[in-house]
Amino acid sequence: MNHAQVLALLRSEHPAELCARADAVRAREVGDEVHLRGLLEVSSHCRRACTYCGLASHRRGLPRYRMSAEEVLQGAEVAHELGYGSVVIQAGEDPGLSSEWVAQVVQRIKERTPLAITLSLGERMEDLARWREAGADRYLLRIETTDPQLHKRIHPPRPGHDPDHRFRVLERLHELGYAVGSGVMVGIPGQSWESLAGDLLWFRDQGLAMVGLGPWVPDPATPLSQAPTLPDDQQVPHDAATTLRVLALTRLLCPQAHIPSTTALATLGGRQDGLRCGANVVMPNLTPPQYRFLYQIYPHKAGSDLGILEMDRLVRDQLRALGRPPGRGRGDPMLPSA
Ligand code: 5AD
Repeated sequence: MNHAQVLALLRSEHPAELCARADAVRAREVGDEVHLRGLLEVSSHCRRACTYCGLASHRRGLPRYRMSAEEVLQGAEVAHELGYGSVVIQAGEDPGLSSEWVAQVVQRIKERTPLAITLSLGERMEDLARWREAGADRYLLRIETTDPQLHKRIHPPRPGHDPDHRFRVLERLHELGYAVGSGVMVGIPGQSWESLAGDLLWFRDQGLAMVGLGPWVPDPATPLSQAPTLPDDQQVPHDAATTLRVLALTRLLCPQAHIPSTTALATLGGRQDGLRCGANVVMPNLTPPQYRFLYQIYPHKAGSDLGILEMDRLVRDQLRALGRPPGRGRGDPMLPSA
């Protein structure tokens, strides 16, 4: 597929057909199993000022937390007991999570459980080799948009860093042998259909093992919610229908990737639709309830009010209704990282 073809499908008036194609490719390439990944949001501290994010460093009044190593280990044990094959350790870009602390946590989870470990801790270039050595298997770092102007606008670089630092971190992750995941938000103010088509081709060309996609959810407390949009015929909307088309096309372009039906999509009521349009992963939130409300990267995040067991039951009920079995084992990527 070339850029013009992706663009035409993105804007297609037959979304049901696109979704059915993606569902067939998903069934053929990665099967019916839906892999469950336990999400642990281990710290809400962040040194970055991304303009879309409710946890950005300029939100001075926000109460912040950092989980203890023991709490993270307990969370991993819960994931294992629930039958999940992996945990995702996610946080803001928090230097308070030292390289050594993370390495120890990874090592101890590996000693106690057979879980695959995915890290999602931001642009921690200097620490990636140590964490890989400690046993981390996968890393998630969404690019959010590959459009250089837009990328720079929504990700103010750290002093002394280039605006394209995140692309270089992704290259390094591949070199270190991580299974690499990235992805974008759909409907960022200023995101055109052309730029989104470029993102989709980039997923394919990167050989990503995992691709995460969700609608941009405006947070009134962030600068991006006040940003100008493009004229209506150019601006990508941040709705569920558009996100589902992007998901379906991603499945066509990256047939063997692991693709979650994300929390942001579930926030718009679309978790099951995501699983019908190409997705094969769900990431139930296992963050202890006392912290969960403080990890509001955007408002009204789906599941914020559910206990861990309730969340697990809800997801399993949704899978049963779809006739899709929960995955067994680690749910390793089929692809070696490119
Ligand atoms: N709307 C939707 N998704 C968001 N994220 C952060 N802020 C928002 C928002 N306002 C997503 C980003 C990030 C992931 C952890 O959450 O894509 O990579």
